[in-house]
Amino acid sequence: MPVDILPIVMCGDRALRHPAERVDLSELGTPAMARLISEMRATMEAAPGVGLAAPQVGVPLQLAVIQDGPERWGQASATDLAARQRTALPFTVLVNPSLIALRSEGTAAFYEGCLSIPGLTAVVNRYRSVRVEALDEQGEPFSRQYNGWPARIVQHEIDHLGGTLYLDRAIARSLSTTENYLANWAGRDVQEVSRALAFELPATSA
Ligand code: NI
Repeated sequence: MPVDILPIVMCGDRALRHPAERVDLSELGTPAMARLISEMRATMEAAPGVGLAAPQVGVPLQLAVIQDGPERWGQASATDLAARQRTALPFTVLVNPSLIALRSEGTAAFYEGCLSIPGLTAVVNRYRSVRVEALDEQGEPFSRQYNGWPARIVQHEIDHLGGTLYLDRAIARSLSTTENYLANWAGRDVQEVSRALAFELPATSA
């Protein structure tokens, strides 16, 4: 059976601005939940994106899918990927996740975007390492540490489940159209971009 690509809710919709409800464990493993997860995965892949939270498809549940890998890295150079600690992240379903910041590992500031805020990108300072406790799609609990770019992805998606968008946390003066970003700043060091666009980076970021 073909899997539907779902319409993505855009910022300005109340669906993105309220905390999501916990998934009832009796829902996990049901055909309806399996279909929703398949549709979210297909929607993320089609976008393409590295994460998608249920509120972004109008479903107010604490559920997100994440995935990253070479097929999504486009023209990013090895230097770029290394600077971002962008490593492959296998497809994972996060149900009712909670996040513990590993503060001693510090923070990192990079440009980030969101499928619900198309055409824009801004710098967000995020924890380099976090621990996530969640259930998988079968209801099995897991606890996993994420570092680098995967840590950014899970922070971004778990924020969605609380009604928070990356722009809420972004350095406002760093805001750029994706077009300008790709033309001028992609692959450049964020320190250099901050000087060029006259915005301050937090002192804690490397
Ligand atoms: Ni997003």
